[in-house]
Amino acid sequence: MESLSDSFRALGDPTRLRILRLVAEAPLNVSELVSVVGVAQSSVSHHLAKLKGLDLIREERQAGYTFYSLAVGQDDRRRPLIELAREGDDGAGDQARLTDLLRQREDRQALNERLLEPGQSWFLWSSALASLLPALDVADFGCGTGVLSVAMARWARRVVAIDQSRQALDEAQKRAAREKVRNVQFLEEDLHRLSLPSGKKDLVVLSQSLHHVKTPGAVLREAARILKPGGRIVVLELMPHDERWVKQRLGHLHLGFTPRRLEADLDRAGFAGLSLETHARNGSSPFRVFLLTGAKR
Ligand SMILES: C[S@@+](CC[C@H](N)C(=O)[O-])C[C@H]1O[C@@H](n2cnc3c(N)ncnc32)[C@H](O)[C@@H]1O
Repeated sequence: MESLSDSFRALGDPTRLRILRLVAEAPLNVSELVSVVGVAQSSVSHHLAKLKGLDLIREERQAGYTFYSLAVGQDDRRRPLIELAREGDDGAGDQARLTDLLRQREDRQALNERLLEPGQSWFLWSSALASLLPALDVADFGCGTGVLSVAMARWARRVVAIDQSRQALDEAQKRAAREKVRNVQFLEEDLHRLSLPSGKKDLVVLSQSLHHVKTPGAVLREAARILKPGGRIVVLELMPHDERWVKQRLGHLHLGFTPRRLEADLDRAGFAGLSLETHARNGSSPFRVFLLTGAKR
């Protein structure tokens, strides 16, 4: 009885009710729900946790995303409540946005299948092309759990994977061992002040780590210091965004950057020949990424 009244109470919240109606139509991930319901990701996550706690929805991992769907079966005594919710007025126009989102998802899937046909996967293509690179000495700034460090170690001479988080480095080390990659060195240090010698590296990579650091300009100066003259830098960053929840939940210190600001920082740190590539928005994600590359003067 308690669970029934808890479920009624939980669905008294209009946003939660909208979310439940949406996942009752199709399995959806958090970004998709954010784009349909139009509220902050932190709020959607909070409502999902509540619905999941009451066993009204279930979660399932698919292709790296968590999808949420209705967990209430036909013979569940809460089923009439769900049917009532589904039939209710759609004043916010969620159904139209959901239909549009599902159509876009299908189009993307069809396109991906066409694109993947030649090599079966983009990962295979990227590793095949990367194998044409000369053997480089690479530093991965803010390596996290080491996905990129280990991928680069397949074509690099040596990779130094740097992070200030011991926990992240432990994970990265386990990944390297699992994948039998032996040319990665792990360094627990602050990117603002590295113990690495000057002028020795061919390539510095910063993938989504600059928005975590206090002084991006100082970190880029460290990158320039450890590179050989002509050594290259690759920065992958987020465009400016308004997702404030990332500060508390993910520890971001900057809500993205304008490419112009990072170009100025790179120039001041001693990089030239800068080139910018901006990625199109990925489906309903509120984040957009760009790549900046350059060479040490
Ligand atoms: C979002 S993760 C990026 C992980 C990885 N580069 C990737 O693209 O998947 C950012 C990482 O930067 C690290 N980091 C943040 N500030 C740092 C600092 N001042 N010195 C060293 N590492 C730092 C964090 O611990 C975290 O693992």
